[in-house]
Amino acid sequence: MGDGHNTQFRIAPGGQLGGELRVPGDKSISHRSIMLGAIAEGDTEVSGFLEGEDCLATLDAFRAMGVDIEGPQKGRVVIHGAGLHGLQAPKTSLDLGNSGTSMRLMTGLLAGQSFASTLIGDASLSTRPMRRVSDPLLEMGARINTAAGGTPPLEIKPVKKLKAIDYRMPVASAQVKSSLLLAGLYAQGRTCVHEPAITRDHTERMLMGMGYKLERSDAEVCIAGGEFLRGMPIDVPADISSAAFFMVGASIAPGSDVLLQHVGINPTRTGVIDILQLMGADIQIMNQHEVCGEPVADIRVKSAPLQGINIPPHLVPLAIDEFPAIFVAAACAQGATVLTGAEELRVKESDRIQAMADGLQVLGIQAQPTHDGIMIIGGEMGGGEIDSLGDHRIAMAFAMAGLRANDQILINGCDNVKTSFPGFMVLARKAGLEISINV
Ligand code: S3P
Repeated sequence: MGDGHNTQFRIAPGGQLGGELRVPGDKSISHRSIMLGAIAEGDTEVSGFLEGEDCLATLDAFRAMGVDIEGPQKGRVVIHGAGLHGLQAPKTSLDLGNSGTSMRLMTGLLAGQSFASTLIGDASLSTRPMRRVSDPLLEMGARINTAAGGTPPLEIKPVKKLKAIDYRMPVASAQVKSSLLLAGLYAQGRTCVHEPAITRDHTERMLMGMGYKLERSDAEVCIAGGEFLRGMPIDVPADISSAAFFMVGASIAPGSDVLLQHVGINPTRTGVIDILQLMGADIQIMNQHEVCGEPVADIRVKSAPLQGINIPPHLVPLAIDEFPAIFVAAACAQGATVLTGAEELRVKESDRIQAMADGLQVLGIQAQPTHDGIMIIGGEMGGGEIDSLGDHRIAMAFAMAGLRANDQILINGCDNVKTSFPGFMVLARKAGLEISINV
């Protein structure tokens, strides 16, 4: 894994975006295809798999637990399922790199196994909070040690069986929900997870697609242990979180018109479209259809004048990964954009509120961080040198800012772009961004 601190992007100012683009596969669905495919009966054939470092870390971890996996080759992966009780003890620690999703979901999945495992990560992942999963898992009877401060490494000890719990999540987190549902597969009784706000539901959709019974209501999902999963074909749509950079770029750069193909538009993920539309963006959803239980569409975005808004709090979990890009849109909008209720952004791959406020200020934009959000006043953007803090989404958001800056932008620490968006630079150049790389 790169340390995220050596590759530098250089963006020449101005330009516009155009053409038909397909961004890489959805990260959340790709992770889940490996995890659930691994513990299913029979084969799971995946197309459109995201060959980014995060999902490859998940894939390698399941190989290290004896699962026979073919690929990835041009997005095709075949997982020969080992069954619910077919995983084997890994010989060494499982290194999950930069990937919080791998670590949190796998902690739930591994908590109920009859073997020990240790989960480690890179410098960023090693600072991220894990008690949000280990605490409820301990209540289920798991045996998990974290480092002091509740961070990785996580040492998971074998157990005979977990017991089901009813859990009200204190934060709206799909990672915590999914972790507990995966543990629930190995628990005696019915595990219920209540969420304070709706979060992405790819785990639930894939479990049901594989024939597992779930009970779902508005804010709660319940699962009973002891059934089995059946492998299935999975066509991973393009990741709306990666498409978001192009939605913002096309919105802010006059004369732009892009068509983003085959994008996942699961309603638990489309907050970015709602927020940009509230700001005045010209976004059309076309050719909507369903693929393997997930809604998919082509998204056409044309440039439009944007206005600042108060971002509605209910949209926060539905756009949680897209705020770095949305903040760049806010910097190009007329007036103030205010975000509250988003303290989770401070514990992502970086503190995204601080990282974005610092970078926008370098470009001459007024950006005032608060404990749970930010206020940004749109204005003229200059150039400058920005630190992405090794965070892929900070790097890509500032790359798009170049379309409206009046001078060159240099972005440091861009190695980790390949955790979620391999080929970003090539695709962005094809679309019209004047981006180059200094290694
Ligand atoms: C993810 C859930 C989100 C998101 C992350 C991927 C997932 O995290 O930020 O990039 O795949 O479940 P939280 O659920 O912790 O908000």
